[in-house]
Amino acid sequence: MIHSPQPWIEVNRVEDRHFEGNLENWRAMEEAVKAGKVRAIGVSNFLIEDVNNILENGTIKPAVNQIGVNIGNTPEELIKYCQSKDIIIEAYSPLAHGRLFDNETLKKYAKKYQVSVAQLMLRYDCQLGCVVLPKTDILDEMKENRQLDFEISDEDMKKLKQLKF
Ligand SMILES: NC(=O)c1ccc[n+]([C@@H]2O[C@H](COP(=O)([O-])OP(=O)(O)OC[C@H]3O[C@@H](n4cnc5c(N)ncnc54)[C@H](OP(=O)(O)O)[C@@H]3O)[C@@H](O)[C@H]2O)c1
Repeated sequence: MIHSPQPWIEVNRVEDRHFEGNLENWRAMEEAVKAGKVRAIGVSNFLIEDVNNILENGTIKPAVNQIGVNIGNTPEELIKYCQSKDIIIEAYSPLAHGRLFDNETLKKYAKKYQVSVAQLMLRYDCQLGCVVLPKTDILDEMKENRQLDFEISDEDMKKLKQLKF
C-alpha cells in the first residue's frame, strides 16, 4: 500500500496532494503486479480526489483504501465512494486507540446490546461494510473482538454516525 498520499508531516497542514508522485509510485506497484511479484496493491489515507487520481490515470484499481473509521469519526462519503468503485475499505484504529472506552454515550449503547464498548465499535465498522483492523496483544481481547454476532439497529447506526469525538 501507499501509506499516505502526503508525507505524514504534511497531513492536515499542506494542501499539495502530490498527484504526480503518487502516480509514479502507483506505476511502480503496478509493475510489481504485472511481474507476478504481488497479487494486490492498495492505498491508505487517500481522500476521494487522491483515489480519483489513481482511477483516472492508473491501469490497476486499488484493492483497498485503509483509512481511520470509528464511532465519532465516520468519513461516510469517502467510504461510500470507494465501495461504489469496488475498493474495499479497511478500517484502521476502529477502537480509536482505546480512548473512548469510558465514553458515557458509547457505554449506554453497549449496555443496550449487552456487549462491550469495543464490540460495539467493531460491529459498527462491520455494518458500514468495512474490513476491520483492531489491534491487541491480549488473547482474551482478541477473542472478545471476534464475538460480533449481534446487530445494531438502523436507527442506532444513524445516531452513531452523527457522533463526533
Ligand atoms: N494506515 C494507517 O495510516 C494506520 C494508522 C493507524 C493504525 N493503523 C493500523 O490499524 C490497526 C489498529 O489501529 P490502532 O492500533 O491505532 O488502534 P485500535 O485498534 O483502534 O486500538 C488499539 C487499542 O485498543 C486496545 N484494545 C483492543 N481490543 C480491546 C478490547 N477488546 N478491550 C479493551 N481494549 C482493547 C488495545 O489494547 P492492548 O494493546 O492493551 O490490547 C490498544 O490499546 C493497527 O494494525 C495499525 O497498524 C494504520
